[in-house]
Amino acid sequence: MKKRIPFICGNWKMNTTVEEGVNLAKALKEQTVSEEVEAVIAPSFLHLYPVKEVVDGSSWKLSAQDMSSEEMGAHTGEVAGEMIQGLEIPYVILGHSEARGRGQSNELLKKKLERAFALGLKPIFCIGEDESVYEEGETISFVLNQLEESLGSIPTEKWKGMLFAYEPIWAIGTGKTASAEDAQKVAKEIRRWIHEKNGKLGEELRILYGGSVKSDNARSILEQEDVDGLLVGGASLKAEEFGKIVGAGVFHE
Ligand code: 13P
Repeated sequence: MKKRIPFICGNWKMNTTVEEGVNLAKALKEQTVSEEVEAVIAPSFLHLYPVKEVVDGSSWKLSAQDMSSEEMGAHTGEVAGEMIQGLEIPYVILGHSEARGRGQSNELLKKKLERAFALGLKPIFCIGEDESVYEEGETISFVLNQLEESLGSIPTEKWKGMLFAYEPIWAIGTGKTASAEDAQKVAKEIRRWIHEKNGKLGEELRILYGGSVKSDNARSILEQEDVDGLLVGGASLKAEEFGKIVGAGVFHE
């Protein structure tokens, strides 16, 4: 058994029309999810309401892919945390490298984290290095700096239930996966960082890996001691494939 309940999240990114997304959600709902894993899908904002109608009453949970750092108000084109909270959606991905690439700084992400905590939303907070940082062997210090700058000064009692997702940018959508050992090495350092801030949360909080996860590599990554789940992009868009990945999170005694 894993120490923490495996958390497997499909990040649909900017994929599928609403109709296609609803059909994908229906196909996922037909698959039984073991109580030993937490299975989550993160469709685009436009899909959240209709997909929620499909999955409500099933084991599948939902996450938003981002949210504004601002309170509800005059911010054309943005989506407020209150809107996500109002749909009773528990999770929100923050700091995804694709959003960071559009200009989201560590400082802005701190504001988003604070806003999510204030609303009782649980962030799935993404960190990860690009290829040049990886090749220089600076992954750990880069990732810990991202954590320190966005989360380090937020009181740890607010962190309860949040998740961390280590996603090396060079492994996203490229077919290159970090080795299970690399994923473990970084997850262990993230856990050490959390532990130094708050020993209890260091044991409790879940750390995910993301980057070219497929059904054939999911298990070996999930077997790593400090990796408690997966954030899956491309492979979460096919119901059967994603069902297999969720199944890889079931560890019997
Ligand atoms: P891929 O699984 O398509 O590499 O995407 C990973 C990711 O960015 C999940 O958030």
